[in-house]
Amino acid sequence: MTPRPIALRGFILDAPTRHAARGIPDGAILIENGRIAARGTFSEISKLPAAADAEWLGGPDCAVVPGLIDIHAHIPQYPFVARIEESLLPWLKRYIFPAEKNFRAAEARAFAPFFFESLARNGTTLAVLYAAIHEDSAHECFAAAEASGIRAIIGKVMMDRHSYGDLEPDKILPVSIEQTRRLIQRWHGAAGGRLEYAVSPRFAVSCSAEMMRAAADLAREHGTWVQTHLSENHLEIETVRALFPEFPDYTSVYEGCGLLGPKTILGHCIHLSPAERAKLRASGSIIAHCPTSNLFLRSGTMPWDTIVEDGIPFGLASDVAGGPELSMWRVMRCALESQIARSFSTPCRIPSPAEIFHQSTQGAAETLGKGGQLGTLDPGKEADAVLLDLSEIIPSV
Ligand code: GUN
Ligand code: ZN
Repeated sequence: MTPRPIALRGFILDAPTRHAARGIPDGAILIENGRIAARGTFSEISKLPAAADAEWLGGPDCAVVPGLIDIHAHIPQYPFVARIEESLLPWLKRYIFPAEKNFRAAEARAFAPFFFESLARNGTTLAVLYAAIHEDSAHECFAAAEASGIRAIIGKVMMDRHSYGDLEPDKILPVSIEQTRRLIQRWHGAAGGRLEYAVSPRFAVSCSAEMMRAAADLAREHGTWVQTHLSENHLEIETVRALFPEFPDYTSVYEGCGLLGPKTILGHCIHLSPAERAKLRASGSIIAHCPTSNLFLRSGTMPWDTIVEDGIPFGLASDVAGGPELSMWRVMRCALESQIARSFSTPCRIPSPAEIFHQSTQGAAETLGKGGQLGTLDPGKEADAVLLDLSEIIPSV
């Protein structure tokens, strides 16, 4: 039986390009069989034959936007938001590694459904996520994602240096690869393609070159995503320089291990040199821009205008718990404010709100190869949309 059509009424807002947003003040979209069948004014849509049978949701006090996209956050870290430390490495050691160590299967089973519900409540319908190091715990995260109906790219972190895992040093690499392979086989492409796997070597500080090479091989073999962190903090960058003196810079470490490419998502990328940015551009690698985290952990401000000029694909991200909130509205606002703050000391182009909204919707969808499927409210796309009751949320957005 074909499902009953759904019609969403409200201020229809999306941003197909980074140059402008589009709005229909009292508009509507009609959804048939999970796809957007029509977009227009309320008066146009309500005259369509299918609209008479449709379940109507929303109204003049509502807004309809594409589902928001968060391309970098950590599931086990959400209960540990707002833990102040002077910078990244002490924060990881004091709060984050202990939190992830304790995020075993039982904790994941109890917590992950709440995490995915929280994403939905914040309007996020596609998220790229890290689980903890434990295989069974990552499995529970995938199961919760499947049950929630969200679209997600998830991976279990891999670390073989300063690891909080409980394996003997000589077992870490082969076991981590085997665990990752099993998770890929079970979950990559599951839930009708809504779930995908990201091979997730944490960052070069906590991974040997052997582990990063093996991770890259595994991702290539199975066609999965890769996610890691790059150039977030000065002490981190110095540590990588000391660990890998044979490479000229941090980005070259990942390049040398085969980790760069169009399915690689690199968190932060604040302090890159022109040569490093050229490597990202040439490889098609994607930046996850995490403005709330970059301020909270005092890491710096990513040069938005330079990244755009260089043509490096990027999307916005909450980086919970480096960023204190899952809300992509807060992340978008912080992206704007942090570029304004940056402009006080460095002359730079400040992105418009429409450009920032684009990078959290269609722009992010394009970087993830899903721009034809979601990201705007155009007819033909999947009905990946959020209905906001503005009378409920003002002034908290
Ligand atoms: N670098 C390595 N691991 C992490 C993490 O969990 N969060 C952030 N913000 N940076 C990292
Ligand atoms: Zn992160």
